[in-house]
Amino acid sequence: MKHFINLKDIPAKNLRKIITDAKKRKSLRKKLGTLELDKHAPLKGKLLIQMFEKSSLRTRLSFYLAIKQLGGTALTLRPDELHIGKRSEPISDTAKILGTYADLFMLRTDSEKKLELFKKNLDIPLINGLSPNSHPAQILSDIFTIEEIKKKSISKLNISWIGDSNNVLNSLIEASVKFSFNLKIACPKEFMPKKKLIEWVRKNDGKVYIFNNPLDAIKNSDVLLTDKVISMNDKVNKSYKIKKFKNFKINDQILKNAKKDLIILHCLPRGDEITDKVFNSVRSKVWIQALNRVHVQKSILLYCLDKLR
Ligand code: CP
Ligand code: NVA
Repeated sequence: MKHFINLKDIPAKNLRKIITDAKKRKSLRKKLGTLELDKHAPLKGKLLIQMFEKSSLRTRLSFYLAIKQLGGTALTLRPDELHIGKRSEPISDTAKILGTYADLFMLRTDSEKKLELFKKNLDIPLINGLSPNSHPAQILSDIFTIEEIKKKSISKLNISWIGDSNNVLNSLIEASVKFSFNLKIACPKEFMPKKKLIEWVRKNDGKVYIFNNPLDAIKNSDVLLTDKVISMNDKVNKSYKIKKFKNFKINDQILKNAKKDLIILHCLPRGDEITDKVFNSVRSKVWIQALNRVHVQKSILLYCLDKLR
């Protein structure tokens, strides 16, 4: 069965297949309205159940539209409406029921252990819609956006990240190995990516470079990504962390050292890590980035059901 949980566990050729399919699907939709179906409606009769233990706007809407455009339908659950949320039914039984009623399950969770338990007990594909350690659907979609705007394979581009070492960065790091691109990261010393992940990068000949000065990361970069300093349910001393990131805020000063055609992506929602001016500048491609999630998630759903063309 094909789950979509962490990029590092998915063969590179399958990730590339997902992007290629999404490119074809997007171009075929040019004249279609939001709820019009893709030709042949390949997921007709299929049900995606999505459950969110944390807030979501984009992931929720884009998965809903993705399955609808493919001819299927979606049901969104809140854990507090289910027995599982009150801990009065084990994950194993909940998973069994999901597997008999639905065809795909997407989970946004605050616990890696829950993802593992669902994976173990589900007999339908599981999609990770953000966990403490990763946000794979976001990053795969961002690669699509980067290649669409830059009209080049990401392996020929220099990618940078200025910001927290969080779930989104973890997936970007994993992607840098799978898609073989240069990734320069700038973050404060205390908030560096996890050692284990960097060891995995080194073992797999990855090209990840870590700096403690944003100017080092932005040099020669084609694409800059960032995210909030404080993620949902981040259990840190917030004011201390924000202070440590003071010099990492993306502003005109930092961008003085950037290439003229550098573009900026942000998974959203945003916080204080980027100035309004930069966020609203022509470099920022955040709206198309957000919309592209629909296209890539359609191909993720098809991949999970072994229906990629
Ligand atoms: N980027 C993203 O996943 O947004 P949501 O939290 O709104 O789903
Ligand atoms: N790092 C952020 C991403 C939100 C889409 C969080 O986990 O809150």
